[in-house]
Amino acid sequence: MARSALLNVMVAAARKAGRGLARDYGEVENLQVSMKGPGDFVSAADKKAEGVLLEELRRARPSYGLMMEESGVHSGDDPDHVWVVDPLDGTTNFLHGIPQFAISIALERAGVPVAGVIYNPATDELFTAERGGGAFLNDRRLRVAARKDMVDCVIGTGVPHLGRGDHGAYLGELRQVMANCAGIRRIGSAALDLAWVAAGRYDGFWEHGLNPWDVSAGWLMVKEAGGFVTDIDGKEKIHETRTIVAGNEHIHRQLLATLAKARG
Ligand code: IPD
Ligand code: CA
Ligand code: CA
Repeated sequence: MARSALLNVMVAAARKAGRGLARDYGEVENLQVSMKGPGDFVSAADKKAEGVLLEELRRARPSYGLMMEESGVHSGDDPDHVWVVDPLDGTTNFLHGIPQFAISIALERAGVPVAGVIYNPATDELFTAERGGGAFLNDRRLRVAARKDMVDCVIGTGVPHLGRGDHGAYLGELRQVMANCAGIRRIGSAALDLAWVAAGRYDGFWEHGLNPWDVSAGWLMVKEAGGFVTDIDGKEKIHETRTIVAGNEHIHRQLLATLAKARG
């Protein structure tokens, strides 16, 4: 599979940072861990990976800006191009030795993702997408699952936890979705959740309280795999509302309706 120069830059950066994360994952007990907030850990590996990504992406495209989870915004001369980067999505999994975490890199042009890479160094699964060019897992082209009825579907989600999210409202949503689907999963990495929708592993996904670096690459990935992605109101204000709902045409619609019912 021939990748564009742009995707090559992103893949090279993700693989380089991923080598460091994989090494650190092997020694997870020895990591220096600092507390960022309740239930929200930031590891030394996280910061190191972000440093590698910053260096690689800056070197390849010096004029582009960056929005990075740990170090914030690094402005560039080109106001239209911004890398949106989560160096370690699934930090809690990483710290607990659960091999589901990823580096997520998107390139946004005027606020819209046009290229995305999601790389899990523990499984060596590399998801890539470019606007108009489709979505891939390693060299295999991806297509969202074809199921038409939510009762047959596995739906991914993010469950709020200590200090995060509106637990009552979420439980109302979960009650509706769990009563109308074949199974619920909570993997602990929003980037991988979306990549898994693109890969047809999950039929749908919804979550609240996500940031651009959690979802930007995955949003494009699902769309390029033929899926639908909106915020919880069915609009494209994913970054503004910090909500996301994804699936194929049918499941996306049913999931939106089910969530709307929960919200009254
Ligand atoms: C988290 C993961 C998780 C989601 C959280 C995110 P982090 O990102 O994506 O699945 O439920 O809301 O904050 O903290 O591991 O980068
Ligand atoms: Ca994240
Ligand atoms: Ca992170």
